[in-house]
This record gives sequence, C-alpha cells and structure tokens, in this order.
Amino acid sequence: MAEMQATAVAHPNIAFIKYWGNRDQELRLPANGSISMTLADLSSKTTVQFDPSLAHDSFTLNDKPSTEAARQRVTTQLDFIRQMAGIELPASVVSHNNFPAAAGIASSASGFAALTLAASKAAGLDLDGKTLSRLARRASGSASRSIFGGFVELLPATTDEGSFAQPIAAADHWPLVDLIAVVEDSEKEVGSTQGHQLANTSPLQPARVQSAPQRLELTREAIGQRDFSRLAQIAELDSDMMHAVMMTSTPSLHYWLPTTIQVMRKIRQLRRQGVPVFYTLDAGPNPHCICPEDRAEIVETTIDEIQGVKRIFRSEVGGPARLVENSSPD
Ligand code: DP6
Repeated sequence: MAEMQATAVAHPNIAFIKYWGNRDQELRLPANGSISMTLADLSSKTTVQFDPSLAHDSFTLNDKPSTEAARQRVTTQLDFIRQMAGIELPASVVSHNNFPAAAGIASSASGFAALTLAASKAAGLDLDGKTLSRLARRASGSASRSIFGGFVELLPATTDEGSFAQPIAAADHWPLVDLIAVVEDSEKEVGSTQGHQLANTSPLQPARVQSAPQRLELTREAIGQRDFSRLAQIAELDSDMMHAVMMTSTPSLHYWLPTTIQVMRKIRQLRRQGVPVFYTLDAGPNPHCICPEDRAEIVETTIDEIQGVKRIFRSEVGGPARLVENSSPD
C-alpha cells in the first residue's frame, strides 16, 4: 500500500472585502463575496497520516494535543475527504503555526487550507485548486482563499459547487506589505464561527450584503490597476461596515480597544500627509496596516511609536498552499 501521508504549507490571508455571515451555516455558504491578499511570512504546516493502527483521529497543534472542539472540526473535514476517497481510516494530524497563537492572527485559514491539501493528497486524491478551495470552505470560509496565492476572491453562491475561491492577480502583481499591529495578545472572546451566526441579527447586515457586489467590483478594478488610493478608500469602508454589523448584533461584538482606534486615526493621519496606507480589521482588535513595500518602514516606525502597540508582524504577499517534504523547515 502506498504511504498514506502528506505534508502541506499554507498561509493566512487578510481580507480587503470581508466575509461576514453565512447564507447557509451548515454548508458555510458566505452571505457575500470576499477578496483577500495571501500573507507570505506567516504559515501553517500540517502533516496528515492515515493509519489503520489508530483508534480515532488525533490532532496535535503546536506540539500540544488540541482541544476536543478543534479535533472535532478537523474530523469533520477529514470525513469529507475520506468519503471522496472511499476510505475509512483514522488519521493523525500534526500542525504547526510559525506565528504565536496569542498574536491574534486567526490560524483557521492557513490551518484548514494546509489540512485540506495534505489530507486529500494522503488519501490518494489529486484535487485541482477549485475543488480544494471548495472543500476548504466547508471547514473555514477564509481557508478557501488561502488555497491560492496573491490576490484572491471567494465567490458566494447558493450551492456548495458554486462557492469557491479563485486568484484575481498573482503575488508579484503588486508588492504590498501587511503590518499587523498587535494591541492585545490574549485569545479573542468570540471567534468568527460564532460571530458569523450573529450577523443576521444586525439591522445593518442586509445593507452591507446588498452593497458588497459594488465594493467587490471596485476592489477588483483597484487591484487590477494597482490603484492604491481607491483600494484604501474601499477597504477601510468595508472593514468599518463589517465592524458596524458586529457592534449592532445581538449580542453585540465590540472588538475595538482604545489602542485600536489610536492606530486607525494614525493611519488616516499618515494618509492625509501623503503616505499611502490603510487599515483593515478582522474579528479582533489588531489593525492590519496595508501599504506599498517601499513605505513599510515609515508606517512601521510611526505605528511602533504608539504606546499600547505591543509588537508588529510584517508580511509580504504570499503564494498558494503547497505540498512539501515533512522534514522541510516552516
Ligand atoms: C472577519 O473564515 O475565520 O476574518 O468560516 O467560521 O472559519 P469560519 O470563519 P472565518 O471568518 C473570517 C472572518 C473575517 C473576514 C474575512 O477574513 O473575510
């Protein structure tokens, strides 16, 4: 029997147009399309081995046995892959992130993209990017975008088959940098999976979803033309709109901290002074500051001066999820 083991590396991504809320929670069909940039310098490396001698699936994350909830989420994803491959073997899953869990950077996108690629390969499947992306979406919406590198769009649809991500521009199309200002490094109170389920309780969600196609169009155009100021305007608006939905949900989600707002104001001030930079925030308090590579130093120095910014992670635009040797460095 061929060795049923494979290792994959995938990167997280930062969305310019956000995915928030599902039209179908069970299938994880997003309420609206989203566009992101894959982050080269952060990664998850995941090894999957199907093994008949195991009693059940095991999941080790950063050298520790995972929580039962995390193992269950991995098992659910493995079940889809086992079903496709026609196998019933349990698997051991070992995953490492090269960024600390306490950095407030979600590892579900990179983790589930790497898991989906490694598990499908270990199960003997050779899936194309579209199928991998669709499968990854079932585990985590943003993971569907991390299958691809560069600038990536996740398409909304009413069916499982129709909702997958596709690249809109390669990583070298536009040398942008993401500077992640860590203002709080403890675990977040309400994660995305729970948050998505609250989106529809906000009276602002229908307006956000209804106007998303227009923002997606403008973002596609801005990326295509490398038009930074248009991208900045639309991405900040989209991030603020998502947080407005979060803040007006029942129960409400307030992720911003005082330092978060200080960073946002500083970014806008820099832009008024002629420095091309914008902020965008995920389901947490840590602003991502996006700028062209040749402005990263001035932006980093300026943000670093704000008291309350604990550290800054820097990343360039990254490539797609890929298979690697198990022994390769992260
Ligand atoms: C705010 O993909 O983390 O980062 O599908 O439940 O895993 P699950 O949620 P997730 O949601 C991402 C939310 C976001 C915006 C985005 O990345 O588009």
